[in-house]
Amino acid sequence: MKFALYSDIHAQVPQLEAVQAAVDKENVDKEIVIGDLIMLGPEPEVVVENIRNRPNCDVVVGNLDLWAVNKRWETHKPKSPHQAWMFDMTKQTRDRLSEDQLKWLGMLPFSLSYMPEPGHEFLIFHGTPHEIGDESALPLRLTDDEVKDQLGNVSAEIMAHGHIHGPSVRKVGNQTIVCAAAVGMSWDGDPRPAYATVEYLGNGKWDAQVHRVEFDCEEQAKHNENCWIEHGDRIAGMIRTGTFWNPEHMPH
Ligand SMILES: [Fe+2]
Repeated sequence: MKFALYSDIHAQVPQLEAVQAAVDKENVDKEIVIGDLIMLGPEPEVVVENIRNRPNCDVVVGNLDLWAVNKRWETHKPKSPHQAWMFDMTKQTRDRLSEDQLKWLGMLPFSLSYMPEPGHEFLIFHGTPHEIGDESALPLRLTDDEVKDQLGNVSAEIMAHGHIHGPSVRKVGNQTIVCAAAVGMSWDGDPRPAYATVEYLGNGKWDAQVHRVEFDCEEQAKHNENCWIEHGDRIAGMIRTGTFWNPEHMPH
């Protein structure tokens, strides 16, 4: 059984189309989107509609999807000027989505689990197995012991997540952890959109790979600069460089 996984689309349509064109050639049994369809980009309503109508595609929810669904600005005070900017964007993003789209986002599961054979589990979540990503994450800088702490008693042989915008495959003990993010913008220094493939080969053997997709980012960077989002230049910078807009305050 072969899976294609991608996440953190962040309302960026051309990057999504580039990744989907590559995924279409992978001939997978199941496609999985690992959250953060919206926020940090100009076309949330188009991305939600695309994913809702994508055949053979399962979806888990991301932390920023729930910010819009749950009106985070009403229940949380911004902890920084960065969050204040994000909260304003959350309100405006929500305004662009229909009630039906918000309801669909709000009903997405926190995690998904597949078991191609009994005892051989593949677990998928946006941030960590226990928390969506607002309070914790699985960044590459964590030591193996720190990763094990985050995983707790999760026993899946292989896991896939998004959120940290740095595609990778990591082995910790006898478990494999795949980061499939991101489509919309990378934070690992490589501006190309990414996705991952995971295939169950039988007898407890899994193959996991990350893939980068060629993408000419300049036009979409300019589109973000000139769109409705305040400080769209910050997003444009991330699209162009593949790094967080304010490198001293990398979120992970
Ligand atoms: Fe996220």
